Amino acid sequence: MPVIGVFDSGFGGLTVLQALLPLIPGAHYIYLGDTARLPYGAKSQTTIARFAVESARFLEAHGADLLVIACNTATALALPDIRASVKIPVVGVVEPGARAAHVTLTIPSTNLSSRPESAFVADAAERPAASPLRPEVLILATSATVQSHAYRTECELLDLHATEVATPLLVPLVEEGWTDHPVTRDVLRIYLTEALAQCVPDAVILGCTHYPLIALAIEQTLRDLGSQARIIDSAHATARAAAAALGFNTIPTDGKPATFDCYATDSVDKFRRLGSSFLGQQIPEVKLLDLGG
Ligand code: DGL
Repeated sequence: MPVIGVFDSGFGGLTVLQALLPLIPGAHYIYLGDTARLPYGAKSQTTIARFAVESARFLEAHGADLLVIACNTATALALPDIRASVKIPVVGVVEPGARAAHVTLTIPSTNLSSRPESAFVADAAERPAASPLRPEVLILATSATVQSHAYRTECELLDLHATEVATPLLVPLVEEGWTDHPVTRDVLRIYLTEALAQCVPDAVILGCTHYPLIALAIEQTLRDLGSQARIIDSAHATARAAAAALGFNTIPTDGKPATFDCYATDSVDKFRRLGSSFLGQQIPEVKLLDLGG
């Protein structure tokens, strides 16, 4: 049974764990949310790398065979540091998210349904763009992720034109549980009006762990503003990349349910309460972990 370590700055990465559980059901997962030091999205590269490396080493020391960096900010700013600090394979969220956008925008949807899930991500990079016009992608992410231009770099490698927009207020709104709230809808309308003044996107990448929880509100606001852009959720693309990294071309069906342990570096009660909505199921126990300041 593979052990998969999943790391995020907080609860948001549970959206990636939620995508992993049905895709690799026979695995044991160790989830670490660095809630004491969240948010990463407004911190410097040096600090983000130090925090992320400490967490990666913890997960490796606890038996992880594969590390999934579910945090967009940690992936965007610290993936090389993390890879250099552990001996196990590391999958981040940025490359799978960009590849998922590429696949969505360049492969006719009729062909997608007949393909195994893990193949969507695995071989997207080899495909030439279907249209001579570069598809346009809008990336919504934290300030640190946007400043790193990690998504723009990955998109340009795939011949996608990328516009990155920082939407940091969405993180605390989701943390507050305001996923269906007038204030969140107002903030989204302001952010997306500004973003759509800069580009006409064919797809919008949810470049932050928290945004899948307001994916419907994002889609609705885009439609209200006249955009037909497709929504790309990095969580599912990352889960497929993790399955591919473990060599699973098809979903294992040995009938064993996935098991998981959760660690948090701050209030375990808050993690259990908020985390259950991110994961879409009850989290029975959360262990408190001290990684220092
Ligand atoms: N997990 C972060 C991300 O995906 C969002 C929260 C934070 O800023 O730490 O970018």
